[in-house]
Amino acid sequence: MARSRFRQLWAGTALVALGSVPLSVALAADVQAGKTVSQAKCSQCHEADDWEGESAASLESLIRDIVAGKVKHKAPLQLTPAEVADIAAYWGQSSQKGRKRR
Ligand code: HEC
Repeated sequence: MARSRFRQLWAGTALVALGSVPLSVALAADVQAGKTVSQAKCSQCHEADDWEGESAASLESLIRDIVAGKVKHKAPLQLTPAEVADIAAYWGQSSQKGRKRR
């Protein structure tokens, strides 16, 4: 009867939402690669346009948290850190082209 074991799983969750400061985010990211990966792995459920108003930096930390299992997602994501950055760059970029920003 080891029922206290599960509690530790939740300990990290609270830290996630505080947001990471976008330091060097997306500088080295490859938008074209991000397009390719997201079309292969995400486009059955997401379009780049879905992320209107989201910056690449916030998308990157969000996706990273999904990959790490800290943010709930419909399906588990398996992406390398580089792929995460690339997708974030692609989505973050297309969300800003010619659109009105808040
Ligand atoms: C099987 C369908 C499916 C696939 C494939 C999928 N997603 Fe999602 N994703 C969802 C659903 C459903 C949501 C929740 C939408 C909502 O907020 O109502 C979601 C939400 C998200 C969110 C927002 C999470 C939040 O808490 O705001 C991100 C970021 C995301 N997905 C990234 C990705 C990435 C990156 C990929 C590809 C590597 C991907 N998703 C592939 C279904 C999918």
